[in-house]
Amino acid sequence: MKIIKDVQAMKQISASEKSQGNKIGFVPTMGFLHAGHLSLVRESVCQTDCTVSSVFVNSAQFAPHEDFEDYPRDLQKDLDLLEEAGTDYAFIPKAKQMYPDGYKTYIEVHELQERLCGQTRPHFFQGVCTVVLKLFNIVAPDLAFFGQKDAQQSIILKRMVRDLDLDVQIEVLPIIRDKDGLALSSRNFCFNKRQRQAALCLSRSLRLAQKKITAGEIDAAQVLQTIRAEIEAEPQARIDYAEIVDTNDLLPRETIHKGDLIALAVFIGKVRLIDNLIVD
Ligand code: PAF
Repeated sequence: MKIIKDVQAMKQISASEKSQGNKIGFVPTMGFLHAGHLSLVRESVCQTDCTVSSVFVNSAQFAPHEDFEDYPRDLQKDLDLLEEAGTDYAFIPKAKQMYPDGYKTYIEVHELQERLCGQTRPHFFQGVCTVVLKLFNIVAPDLAFFGQKDAQQSIILKRMVRDLDLDVQIEVLPIIRDKDGLALSSRNFCFNKRQRQAALCLSRSLRLAQKKITAGEIDAAQVLQTIRAEIEAEPQARIDYAEIVDTNDLLPRETIHKGDLIALAVFIGKVRLIDNLIVD
C-alpha cells in the first residue's frame, strides 16, 4: 500500500491508473476504523482494479461546539488495517491543503440537508458534501463506497452526484453490527461499560419496530411510540430524533411503506449515536 499525502500526487496516481484502464474504487473515511469501514474496502477490492481509501477528519462537518478535537484518531492503526483489507493507496491529505487560507466554497443539498440529523447539526451535510466532492475531484473514482449506517449521508451524496452530473457511482453497503446488535461506530470507543450497554436501546428499538411492522402495523405514529418507549426506558439515553421518512425527500410518513427509512439519533451521555432500518 502506498501512502499519499499530497493532493497533486494523488491526482497524478489516479490519472495514471485510469490511463492503464483501471477502475478506481474509493472509500472515504475519517479514520479510527472498524469492521464497518473495512467491509467497504473489501467490497471495493472485489469490484474494482485499484482501491483508494482516505483518512481525513473533516473540520467542515463539525460545529464549533462539537467533538472535532476529541474525535478519536489512530493513524498508524488505520494504515495497518487499510493495508490488511487490500487498499492500494491510502490518501491522508493535510487540512491546510484541503482548506487553504481563504477557502470559501461549500456545497449544499437544500432541504435534504435540513432534515433528520440536519436539525441538530445544521453545518454537517454542507461539510460532508464539500469534502466528498473535493475528494471525488482529487481521486476521480469510478465507484465510491459508503455505509448504510449514515443513511441520510448516502441519500444526500447520491443526490449531489445526480444533480452535479458527477461520473461516480455510489455503492451503499449494509450496517455492520456487534453480536449484541450495536451498530459499529468510531464513537462507540468513547463509552464506558454502562454506556455501551445503554447504547443497545437503539438497535433494540429498531428490532421491535420491525417486528411490529411485520405483524401488520402501518401507522407510523404507533411504531414511533414503540421506539420511543423502548429508548426512554433507558435512563442514560436521550432521543435527539426518531422518525419514519420517505427516502426520496426525507419527509415524515403517516403510513409506512416498504423501503421507508426509520432513522434514530440518540444521545448516550455526550455521545450522539445514529442507527436506522429500511422497512422490509
Ligand atoms: O462518513 C464519514 O466518515 C464522513 O462523513 C466522510 C464521508 C468520510 C466525509 O468526511
